Order: sequence, then structure tokens, then C-alpha cells
Amino acid sequence: MADDAPRDWEASTYDRVSTPHRAWGADVLGRLTLRGDERALDAGCGTGRVTAELLRLVPDGHVIGVDGSPAMIAQAGRVLPREVELLVQDLTALVLDAPVDVVVSTATFHWIADHDVLFGRLAEALVAGGRLEAQCGGAGNIASVVAAIGRLRTRAPWDAAFLGWEDDWNFAGPEETEARLRAAGFVDVSAWLEPRPVVLEDAHAFLRTVVLGSHLARLPEEAHDDFVEAVREELEVDGVVTLDYVRLNLGGTRASDGAAPVQLPGEAVPESPEDLAAWLRA
Ligand SMILES: C[S@@+](CC[C@H](N)C(=O)[O-])C[C@H]1O[C@@H](n2cnc3c(N)ncnc32)[C@H](O)[C@@H]1O
Repeated sequence: MADDAPRDWEASTYDRVSTPHRAWGADVLGRLTLRGDERALDAGCGTGRVTAELLRLVPDGHVIGVDGSPAMIAQAGRVLPREVELLVQDLTALVLDAPVDVVVSTATFHWIADHDVLFGRLAEALVAGGRLEAQCGGAGNIASVVAAIGRLRTRAPWDAAFLGWEDDWNFAGPEETEARLRAAGFVDVSAWLEPRPVVLEDAHAFLRTVVLGSHLARLPEEAHDDFVEAVREELEVDGVVTLDYVRLNLGGTRASDGAAPVQLPGEAVPESPEDLAAWLRA
């Protein structure tokens, strides 16, 4: 697996422990104004809990769930009605048969390193005037976990496994996100941070399945339990583990005046109106 390719997830445990995600998903869906006949995409649908709620909002439409993890899509296929179209795809290389009216996403974008490419793909997947509403981990998200891992990774036996590798979460801030959304061809953009601390019921399972997956992918299987326990112990206060979640909410409307520009990695968006017009035509 390439280092930046989506990895597989432990879907049945994720489905059991991902209670906070359902509440976050409900908030995202609550920001939508829908007729009920839209084509709608859940980008990073996981086991399909939020996708099921999306389906209820578009009874006369069509719902697509895309996820990079085959196990997540298989689990979603067990619980969602057959009418939901489920695809295993990397969102940074998203290709749909036809554009959608709405894209929603929860707890996914911070797992993706290149938000310029991601937002460009989502803009291309939307019809002109289509709406993106999403939420993911934002700047400052789970800072206590980041700090705990920072302490552990300098110690044996973990130091060797993480040598030369940085945590791969992409916890972006609102201003840079709004700029990226505009550059990708969205208008009426907004992004804001929202602290949402969560007290974990089954801290070991949650950390292992939801939080530490990409760290565990760098450790041998027999070390997984020890690493998760080491992180849990670092976080525990009076027998309780509270995760200091900070969510990045974001939204935008796909510009209706022509094709959305797809910004290539490292490519600067021209600033003058004339250069921008030429760049959009190119
Ligand atoms: C924390 S789960 C969230 C799942 C679901 N949205 C929810 O709220 O329960 C993150 C999901 O993002 C997916 N994911 C991460 N990177 C991805 C990528 N590049 N392309 C597609 N899916 C990706 C993972 O496979 C995983 O299912």
C-alpha cells in the first residue's frame, strides 16, 4: 500500500464505538436544505450510519456512499438498503458516473493529506450550484493525544517504529480551508472550529479502532495492544479518558459560472482577475 493510499479499517468495531460520529453527522445533515429528490454523496461514508440518515432526507433521490476502505463499504452494504450505491474509491481520485447535487462528509477529511486536490475532486463531482457540507477534525483536534504520542514515540520500544514518520492527521484551520474551497471553485464558503469533547466508554477499543489506526499500521500486530494501552494510560485522568475533539465545520456552493478549476498540487491560483480568467479557461 502506498503511504498516502486509504487504508482498511476494522469496520464492525468501528460501527459499535462510533457514537460521537453519529451526532456530528446529524449536525452536518441539519445544515442542508433539501427538496428530497437530490442525488447526494456521502464522502467517506464508513459503515453507513450517516448515509442512512441522508437517505431518509432524499426519499425521491439517489444516495451514493464512497469510502476508501473495502471493509467499511462491506459493512455499510450489510445495513443499508440496496438502492444506496456504494463504491470503494479514494476521494482524491473520485470519479462518479454523473454529478451530484449534494456532498456531505463527516470525520473523514482530516485523514486526507491534500485538501486542495480533495476539494477539487468534490467540486468536479457536484453540479453547478450544488452544495458541500462537511465536518472533520480541525486545528487543535485531540491535542492531548498528539502530545501523548509525542512523548511515547521518543521512548523504546516505539521510537524505532515511528522514526522518520510524522502523524498523518491533517487538522486544518478555518481560514486556510475557506481559501482552499474558493480556489477549488466553491462560493458562499464558510469554515469554523467547534470544540466537542467526548468521554470514552470503551477507551481501548475506541483509540485502537477510530484514532490510532495509522499508527498501528506501522507497528507489528503483537505490539498493537501495548501501544494502545500506553496511549490510554497517558490520557487517563481519575479513571476517565476524555478526548479533546475540535471539529472543523465547512461548507461551500459549487460555482455556477463554468467549470470548477482543479488546482494541481503546488499550483498557485492567479490573483488578478485577467490572469484568473485565463487560468480558469485553460
Ligand atoms: C472516522 S471514519 C468516518 C466514517 C463516517 N463518515 C462516520 O462518520 O462514521 C473515516 C473514514 O474515512 C475514510 N477515508 C479516509 N481516507 C479516505 C480517502 N482518501 N478516500 C476515501 N475514504 C477515506 C476511511 O476509510 C473511514 O471510513
